[in-house]
Amino acid sequence: MKILGIESSCDETGVAVYDTASGLLAHRLYSQVALHAEYGGVVPELASRDHIRKITPLIRETMADAGLQFGDLDGVAYTAGPGLIGALMVGASVGRSLAWGLDIPAVAVHHMEGHLLAPMLEQNAPQFPFIALLVSGGHTMLVLVKAVGDYAILGESVDDAVGEAFDKTAKMLGLGYPGGPVLAKLADSITDQEIANPSYTFPRPMIKHPGLDFSFSGLKTFALTTWRNSKQTEQEKARIAYAFQEAVVDTLFIKCRRALKQAEIKRLVIAGGVGANKRLREKLQSLDADVFFPRMEFCTDNGAMIAYAGAIRLQAGQKEDAVIRPKPRWSLEELSGL
Ligand code: KG4
Ligand code: ZN
Repeated sequence: MKILGIESSCDETGVAVYDTASGLLAHRLYSQVALHAEYGGVVPELASRDHIRKITPLIRETMADAGLQFGDLDGVAYTAGPGLIGALMVGASVGRSLAWGLDIPAVAVHHMEGHLLAPMLEQNAPQFPFIALLVSGGHTMLVLVKAVGDYAILGESVDDAVGEAFDKTAKMLGLGYPGGPVLAKLADSITDQEIANPSYTFPRPMIKHPGLDFSFSGLKTFALTTWRNSKQTEQEKARIAYAFQEAVVDTLFIKCRRALKQAEIKRLVIAGGVGANKRLREKLQSLDADVFFPRMEFCTDNGAMIAYAGAIRLQAGQKEDAVIRPKPRWSLEELSGL
């Protein structure tokens, strides 16, 4: 089956074609980062308009890359939620209508299920069951994944998501938007001498609490206070970025180790935008478990993960009615199995 996947839940328009027989045929991404940068964050109305402008050309280009005609498609998958309602509406309308026009089935994909299954696009895909650490701009979760659609949330953030904490801290340090990757780069620029003898050590929130929930908003405030009390030089900025990243990575490491032990599972999947963080990837490798990551470009939002998740569900016979029904709020635990 050849499935067209469409992602438009936030600030990237992603399109891909996945073939259940031969894998990923093509994928393209258009990022709206430059558009939102001057506002310091995503402006939902501008995001929706830009998706409208880009989605059709991107679909045509991706189909051409895959060497396919629309008549070759067997189904269309689109992100139906969670995400920004206007942005979701664009992908859902285009995806559902295209499927209707071509008289092929359509499937509404959960954005986080897309992230969760993204490592399946790689050569060494994980077997079920596994623990998934989902770390994006909107979510931080530890999930027990027994099979596609069988998800139990073991822990989640009680306040800011990790990506959000990265972005907000970066903004406070004047690093622009989206701050996560910029802050990470600055943190990675620190010298070996500083690593051996760090100027600052930030707290590891909630590690003494039993359970697997997270809290990251305090770290952001800690970073701000540290910055205000510092000499506010570029060097201090890098030191604070380093201390912040270390605290986040260490906290995620401790909670992952706890989740693996609790569930008696030795397989961990990392997904979502923060999964692109080099320090996190490096540190989690040292866990006593097999650790799986999607390639960098499939950590952040993309169409390939949506095409894949949709293909698995369409292959199992699932499909949508002819209605366009985006769900800005949608729990992973509401999903059905295959
Ligand atoms: O999954 P994603 O692309 O979009 C959402 O579904 O939210 O994740 C975006 C988030 C942003 O907060 C971004 O700053 C963060 O992932 N991010 C990173 C890195 N690359 C992206 N955070 C830390 N280090 C990175 N290298
Ligand atoms: Zn995402």
